[in-house]
Amino acid sequence: MVELQSSSKNKGFYVRMRLSHKQARQQEKNIFFKYYKWVLWFSLTLYFFTSYLISHKPNPISKSHAVNSKSSVASRALVESTNSTFFKHPRSHRSEDPLKGLKIFVYDLPSKYNADWLSNERCSNHLFASEVAIHKALLNSDVRTFDQHEADFFFVPVYVSCNFSTVNGFPAIGHARSLLASAVEIISSSYPFWNRSRGSDHVFVASHDYGACFHAMEDRAIADGIPEFMKNSIILQTFGVNYKHPCQEVENVVIPPYISPKSVRNMLEKVPANGRRDIWAFFRGKMEMNPKNVSGRYYSKKVRTVIWRKYNSDRRFYLQRHRYAGYQSEIGRSVFCLCPLGWAPWSPRLVESVALGCVPVIIADGIRLPFPTAVRWPDISLTVAEKDVGKLGRILEHVGATNLTAIQRNLWDPATRSALLFNDMIEEGDATWQVLRGLTKTLDRSYRRVSVSTQ
Ligand SMILES: *[C@@H]1O[C@H](CO)[C@@H](O)[C@H](O)[C@H]1NC(C)=O
Ligand SMILES: *[C@@H]1O[C@H](CO)[C@@H](O)[C@H](O)[C@H]1NC(C)=O
Ligand SMILES: *[C@@H]1O[C@H](CO)[C@@H](O)[C@H](O)[C@H]1NC(C)=O
Ligand SMILES: *[C@@H]1O[C@H](CO)[C@@H](O)[C@H](O)[C@H]1NC(C)=O
Ligand SMILES: *[C@@H]1O[C@H](CO)[C@@H](O)[C@H](O)[C@H]1NC(C)=O
Repeated sequence: MVELQSSSKNKGFYVRMRLSHKQARQQEKNIFFKYYKWVLWFSLTLYFFTSYLISHKPNPISKSHAVNSKSSVASRALVESTNSTFFKHPRSHRSEDPLKGLKIFVYDLPSKYNADWLSNERCSNHLFASEVAIHKALLNSDVRTFDQHEADFFFVPVYVSCNFSTVNGFPAIGHARSLLASAVEIISSSYPFWNRSRGSDHVFVASHDYGACFHAMEDRAIADGIPEFMKNSIILQTFGVNYKHPCQEVENVVIPPYISPKSVRNMLEKVPANGRRDIWAFFRGKMEMNPKNVSGRYYSKKVRTVIWRKYNSDRRFYLQRHRYAGYQSEIGRSVFCLCPLGWAPWSPRLVESVALGCVPVIIADGIRLPFPTAVRWPDISLTVAEKDVGKLGRILEHVGATNLTAIQRNLWDPATRSALLFNDMIEEGDATWQVLRGLTKTLDRSYRRVSVSTQ
């Protein structure tokens, strides 16, 4: 970089020297000083200009127009400066690190809060297993710190969804509140960090239907609310709506439900995302013919019932009401995958459809979807209002005849799929990485950052 500037520098030097030719030595010193400042200014300008060029890769259009001398100087600067010490470690350059040097301390809790549950293999594979996956990924990651004083956030690893009922096989989460409360009791009495911030830099996962309210029924979830001791904290939750709701009135990051990345990869080998699709519109899952009125609410707000009644005999639709272990292969064979609400607005189908290249048809009014900056949901999915579910056939026909190809092209971008999958080891751009990106937006809660910046 210094070399690059030397030619222009010498020119300026030469001009200056000629001007000062007749002046005394004392004055010459002043000129030297002025000249020095000028070069410094010039170097700094060039430095910022080249670092701008490096962080904003020029697009092909501006490249092809790089014909004047100014641009050729700039592109030379680009080539040469990439080898200078300034640019050898782009990660140490603050604005370049998307995770902003984030550091997380992971509490080491007694095994009854987490590891013990893993004796049941389902615990780390079912749809609520992000509580396990995020913990695992953090333990192995570069953002983990063992020095609590260096930590921006404190992760509290409690698995609450792994207590499967012997009656229906669903997770029983009745014990979740007391389990979490006792974990907080332990960390707040053995470390000073919880009390210091009243838990506001502490992170929990709430991957169940109504997230931080820890109940599977909405009316009960609302009545119980978010446990008092968690209200200051940051909650990673699958539940998200874009209207006011008691179960999200806490700092939160919406996360996708857990789908095993291994099963997705295996399936994609058999049915590639851009392969042949012989099912037009697909849904498999619970569909009640005559849904019961449970405390004033009907399952799926009757949306699934309408789908079944209206389209079961329609040959374009492949609707199944019973469980089938191989259903991911059906998603891989389908063009449109229906993702209607159940009790909660979200469902694992959202992730499975995207991961396996089937256009998700989201029928869940007001749903707030995970990682909207990484996953451009409006470009890769269709949203149908609950009240329009009876017109589903016509809506899908219209899309099929107009922009289906464009939607599929966006959908099949591997980066989209990757953003919704939790890997055991964090990969840049994957779901845990997106969670960390989300946490960087709440760095004002970091005790370390705030106390450093106010010094
Ligand atoms: C920059 O460094 C790389 C290796 O780090 C080397 O291959 C390349 O030739 C260098 N380029 C210049 C312009 O010195
Ligand atoms: C599992 O859940 C049931 C029902 O909520 C509860 O009674 C039981 O105590 C839980 N088991 C453990 C080990 O927490
Ligand atoms: C934190 O506060 C609680 C309740 O006020 C107290 O019982 C506990 O000892 C405190 N923890 C520490 C480490 O001082
Ligand atoms: C559903 O049940 C609630 C009480 O649980 C009742 O108030 C409401 O009228 C019922 N709705 C219908 C349509 O029957
Ligand atoms: C595709 O068309 C539908 C219906 O006209 C529209 O709602 C949707 O926004 C379009 N999507 C894209 C990605 O163009």
